[in-house]
Amino acid sequence: MSEDLRLGGIAILDYGSQYTQLIARRLREMGVYAEVFAYDAAPEHINQHHPRGYVLSGGPNSVYEVGAPPLPRHILDSGLPVLGICYGLQLLMHTLGGAVLPSTTDREFGPATIIHTTPSPLLDGLPEQMPVWMSHGDKVTTLAAGFVALAYSDGSPYAVVGDPTRRYYGVQFHPEVRHTAYGTEMLHAFATRICGCAPRWTPVAFIDSAVEAIRRQVGAEQVILGLSGGVDSAVAGALIHRAVGDQLTSIFVNTGMLRLHEPEQVLQVFREQQGMRVIYADATEQFLDALQGVTEPEAKRKIIGRLFIDVFKEQADQLKGVRFLAQGTIYPDVIESAKGSKAAHVIKSHHNVGGLPEQLGFELVEPLRDLFKDEVRKVGTALGLPDHIVWRQPFPGPGLAIRCLGDLTLPRLDKLRHADAIFLEELQKAGLLIGDTAQCFAVLLPVKAVGVMGDLRTYEEVIVLRAVQTDDFMTADWARLPYDLLAQVSRRIVNEVTGVNRVAYDITSKPPGTIEWE
Ligand code: XMP
Repeated sequence: MSEDLRLGGIAILDYGSQYTQLIARRLREMGVYAEVFAYDAAPEHINQHHPRGYVLSGGPNSVYEVGAPPLPRHILDSGLPVLGICYGLQLLMHTLGGAVLPSTTDREFGPATIIHTTPSPLLDGLPEQMPVWMSHGDKVTTLAAGFVALAYSDGSPYAVVGDPTRRYYGVQFHPEVRHTAYGTEMLHAFATRICGCAPRWTPVAFIDSAVEAIRRQVGAEQVILGLSGGVDSAVAGALIHRAVGDQLTSIFVNTGMLRLHEPEQVLQVFREQQGMRVIYADATEQFLDALQGVTEPEAKRKIIGRLFIDVFKEQADQLKGVRFLAQGTIYPDVIESAKGSKAAHVIKSHHNVGGLPEQLGFELVEPLRDLFKDEVRKVGTALGLPDHIVWRQPFPGPGLAIRCLGDLTLPRLDKLRHADAIFLEELQKAGLLIGDTAQCFAVLLPVKAVGVMGDLRTYEEVIVLRAVQTDDFMTADWARLPYDLLAQVSRRIVNEVTGVNRVAYDITSKPPGTIEWE
């Protein structure tokens, strides 16, 4: 039996920094398993995978304020190494008897340089001067007993500190962000040199251990999976198929709101290349009927979400004796739901569209629960899935329904599908579809414009092209696509898509716009 790859990694205590997840990603990129916990989670929970060290994240609070999140006693009692980052460093100092004060004159936000002065296992082998990313208003003014300064910056005499005997270290900047030049090396030194973690967390090792875990959970029972064509459900499907073969049946619902040739491509990859059992339910007519005359975005989402569940359930009911439902839940979803919903204001009700409710009566199999998106992609590639699935741009659950503004009819959807395919094809040819742009698509507007073709007046519909760059989809900028590319796309759409005589390019960022038009 292969051992649990999650044992002996790093536990990260989250104090609310926007970068906490990045700390875990950086560690995992170097093969060290890392998990994020609320700072006040139960010790048994934090220690469930027997970490070899702790990282205390940054956070928005000030350690000297009443009610500031504290350092749990069990962390210090464990005798394991600790690395404090920003708030984490201040917390370590404050708790162990040092002093932290607000800094009025030399607060540091953005790039800074640290000067490395003193040998230590954390910084040995790194240059004397290093660019780092700072973001703090408070600073350590007196070190706790046992600590020495290892590096300083203009604004922070204690930019890096350490107590080598107790193996406690702290950095005032953020080693997890790319702007900190040797941040990865510092995290690596902490995890391997100081904590003694072995780099064992690789996609291939993950696949072996996940296959075993799925077999143990599922036994000889049947599993169903809702395949959307998106990367998470695709990788979950391929992994479960590798573990239990034909005990897995996937259900692929065509809502009629998919892109050109998407159903054929999904079936080709999963049925033919992966050899999986896939039930194809073409529910286009049902969805079009239900959406007839509906133009309000939230109403569309609700109708599609409900009908999707009905169609899925109808197909699942025909399979007898299914005990498990597989889902492509990934680690950021798990972290978010553990925090509870922070969203104060619902802009769009996206997240449940295309999701399946817990009350369907199945037990869940979620083999990707421990993975970040980039890890899911690596696992997908290692499982033999093609790049166009593994690197697919996100596609919303309601699909083209929220890109076809106005009447949702088959001819209008086909018009949109055709224009969208031309846009994607040209982006692909220019090498701009993967990596450079995060999401690119066409939108059909509910207006008509006058044009002239040959000597004839035309009065036809308008396509908008949208292409954005973003890392997190919370904020986005419009992509500065080359004019020549836009000209070629516009020319082709007007010439090849009947009923469209005008193409516009959306130059709105988010905020104030959103990525989708609805
Ligand atoms: P917005 O338009 O809110 O989109 O800037 C942010 C990201 O979410 C996707 N999106 C959705 N995904 N169901 C989904 O599964 C939805 O209803 C939905 N609405 C927007 C959007 O494509 C972008 O990636």
